Amino acid sequence: MTVQRIRRKKRRLRRKIKYGLFVILTIAFIIAIFLVVIPFIDQMRLSSMGYSRESAKNIVSQKLTKTVLSREYSAAFDTNMIKEIDVKEYLELYYVTVDIDDTDKLLYDRLQDLGYQQMAVLKVFSALTFNEITPLLVFNSAEDLDIYIADVIANRDQEIFVLSNNYTDHYENIKTIDDSSAIDVLINKYRATVSDYVPDLVDMSVQYASSGQQLQTEAYQAFTKMVDAMKSDGLGGIYVYSGYRSYQTQERIYNNYVRSKGQQWADRYSARPGHSEHQLGLAVDVTATKSPSAAFETTPEYLWLQDNAYRYGFIMRYPEDSELITGYGYEPWHYRYLGVELATKVYQSGLTYDEYKILYGE
Ligand code: DAL
Ligand code: ZN
Repeated sequence: MTVQRIRRKKRRLRRKIKYGLFVILTIAFIIAIFLVVIPFIDQMRLSSMGYSRESAKNIVSQKLTKTVLSREYSAAFDTNMIKEIDVKEYLELYYVTVDIDDTDKLLYDRLQDLGYQQMAVLKVFSALTFNEITPLLVFNSAEDLDIYIADVIANRDQEIFVLSNNYTDHYENIKTIDDSSAIDVLINKYRATVSDYVPDLVDMSVQYASSGQQLQTEAYQAFTKMVDAMKSDGLGGIYVYSGYRSYQTQERIYNNYVRSKGQQWADRYSARPGHSEHQLGLAVDVTATKSPSAAFETTPEYLWLQDNAYRYGFIMRYPEDSELITGYGYEPWHYRYLGVELATKVYQSGLTYDEYKILYGE
């Protein structure tokens, strides 16, 4: 009796073990299907669409298989996915272009903030380079981006940035600047200071300027430091022949140019009243002390400024190849004070201040 019971117990135990093993194996099998077989099949399907092995693996591991399978093959996305980058947040962008960094993402967001449709922005990113896109931050009448893209492509081999169409309405929908006293304030043909704005000013010594010139203190101190450094590098130095201008002075200068040279010329080289950096007390027009009547861009002092102005907080505000963006012709004599940190960033970005400020600053 006891022996029989023991045998029955053993049999039951063996059955239990068999059953347990069966359950464990079934679970292991199901897990294997989920972990190995399904991803493997997904990878095969992605590969058959054209994606490389590494891309397919990353697509699967980022759980993007369904999305990717529902779309057409994208060579850009394939290239992006070869690297193990997290593409989820900017998926659409990764579909149209490669080598995306945070600045590209910022530009992509900013253009949409400005009212451009996502699809149009994606087209722009798929066709143009970063520097070909940034002018759109400034342009205020580039409605049809297909036209803009075709225009840039047709003109991109020119040395200077030229386009066949016009994408700006200068002095239209002017934004009034709330706080003109901020050092980083952007003022241009789309933004104006109020006519009675007068910054805190200091008189400039005739050692650094022609008589009667004024600037904001911080800009003045930086300017003197810059000129002293230039001189200790063996150069003759520069002086300011036009610093701060009141609204009325700017108005007089602009109107005189219109009278003597015509409105088109005047608008190329002079801001209309309310729109000049000179009204901020943060801009200087300079000339070489040793050769004041020489074209400034031919002087060694100009070359020195090209390499060093940003170290003292100044940028050349109206470069030669940027007229479409800044709205002004080449002004090798006009420097804007932004403070060392910001001037350095702007200089290193290679952007005009108009583009830089809209991209990063607001
Ligand atoms: N010449 C520059 C653009 C000004 O008038 O402010
Ligand atoms: Zn100027």
